[in-house]
Amino acid sequence: VGLRGGLATLAGCLALAACRKAEPPIYDVGRPAASSEIAAWDIDVNALGAGLPAGGGSVHDGEAYYGALCAACHGPRGEGTATGAQLIRPESATVPLRRNIATHWPYAPPLLDYIRRAMPPNRGQPLGADTLYAIVAYLLDANHISVANARVDSATLARVLMPARGRFVLDDRRGGRELR
Ligand code: HEC
Repeated sequence: VGLRGGLATLAGCLALAACRKAEPPIYDVGRPAASSEIAAWDIDVNALGAGLPAGGGSVHDGEAYYGALCAACHGPRGEGTATGAQLIRPESATVPLRRNIATHWPYAPPLLDYIRRAMPPNRGQPLGADTLYAIVAYLLDANHISVANARVDSATLARVLMPARGRFVLDDRRGGRELR
């Protein structure tokens, strides 16, 4: 083989080894996620409204959507049923007061986030942004939470002041008791 041939073979092996190392093993399953697929999952909204989708909707439209999509489980007036939580604070003393949007939601944007991810639970795809804003507008209004011009949108939802805002404390404990 000779010295030069040996060096050439060695260089070839090294180059091949380097190439092999750079390439991840191929198992021939799956494929890279398309950016549109990642975007479809990347829908979280935070308490201050970051991540809200573009769009808006009215109390009026929301009432109709609520009746068609939500009332079956949450009750025609949001009073709750055996299957669905109470959403609207009951006006009648005969309906028992339970946890609802007025008593337990300190910020408005997570309401849209939650409904988009989870409601109606028997639906595979999230509702569209305008439908979601309309439903949220209706639920806020029905709870006597003030929404300007009887509608909410991506710019105004985070400004809605929820009655439960002062009922929660930031849990910044380090060790110590389980409950503050
Ligand atoms: C098939 C029955 C069903 C339908 C339809 C339905 N929900 Fe629900 N919803 C539930 C159940 C059950 C829960 C409680 C889930 C849990 O606690 O894990 C819930 C919880 C909720 C909550 C959280 C309540 C809280 O304070 O914890 C909200 C908000 C909500 N639903 C909104 C809606 C809206 C808006 C619609 C219509 C777009 C809707 N739901 C349609 C069954 C339903």
